[in-house]
Order: sequence, then structure tokens, then C-alpha cells
Amino acid sequence: MSRLSIFPERSITEDADGPQPVLVIDEPKRIQLELDRRGIAFEQWPAAKALTQGLEQDTILAAYQAEVARIQAKGGYQTVDAIRMTPDHPDRDALRLKFLSEHTHAEDEVRFFVEGQGLFSLHIGAEVLVTLCERGDLISVPAGTRHWFDMGHAPCFCALRFFNNPQGWVADFTGDAISSRFPRLD
Ligand SMILES: [Fe+2]
Repeated sequence: MSRLSIFPERSITEDADGPQPVLVIDEPKRIQLELDRRGIAFEQWPAAKALTQGLEQDTILAAYQAEVARIQAKGGYQTVDAIRMTPDHPDRDALRLKFLSEHTHAEDEVRFFVEGQGLFSLHIGAEVLVTLCERGDLISVPAGTRHWFDMGHAPCFCALRFFNNPQGWVADFTGDAISSRFPRLD
């Protein structure tokens, strides 16, 4: 189940029990409302296509052709790819670490989860919005938003990624170790 947990940016380290959220929501329409208030687009779409192991990226994109076209038409995204992680992926530890460092992008970060789950944490103003995204969740994080992503130690997800540039995923790392103070996927 998708879930939004909102934490204060500060006062985390003083709490012996670890970070305590001020709000936890798992009702999709309320998640959408709270994220929308902060400039983050969130929707739930059906994503029921069965993806067998070892599917090529083109096959995954073809299975979701209608959804891809709809998202591209809305946002004018030039580039689309599919990132798929499995618990035995040889680069899982390195990739997890890379995405766990707080960073920004010069463009919106648009993801449609079509399998599994991942944890997006959005650092906006004095809040950190920890957003558990699952199959069927479409999230759009505006350019310049500080954030990180946790795929967990045994990742299992597939997300379609939409880009406004031909290079695909390009990040500016903030150098802030803030992500270490907040909950991980596992
Ligand atoms: Fe990112």
C-alpha cells in the first residue's frame, strides 16, 4: 500500500526513538492532496501488465505504450526508459547508494511504477516527505527539488522514467548527509 509519512526536517537527531512522523497517510486521495499542496503531482493508474523475468526494456515500454504516450503528451518528455531492479541485480548495492544521496535534477523527475515498490523522500522547505511508491503510482517531482530514493537491500521494482533531455538521468548531488537520518525502505 502506498504511504506518505511527513517528518520535520530538524529535531530528528534529538529524538532517541528515531524520527517520528507528524503525519502518516495511506489513503491515495489524501496522499495526492498533501503532495499537491507541496507541488508534487501524484496519481494512481492501473498497472496490471504481467512482466516476466528478463523482459527487455523495449518490451516493457511496449506493454505500457498507451500510458507512456499519455504521460509524454502531457509533459513533452523526449526520452523514456524503464529501470527494473531485481533482488539479485549485480549492481544493486552501488545503485542503491547512488540514489540514496540527496540530489536535485534540472528537470522534473517523473516515474510510473509498474512493478514492486520504492521509497522517495522529498526534502521541501522544513519537511521531509517520505513517500512509499508502489505499482500503479505516478509521481512527478519538480526540477530543483531536493530528494533521494531507496530501493532497499533486495530491490524489486520496475519504473518507467520520463526525461526532458536526451541524456536521461543526470543529478546534482547536494553533499548533505540528511538521508541517513530518515527511514529506509527496509
Ligand atoms: Fe532523482
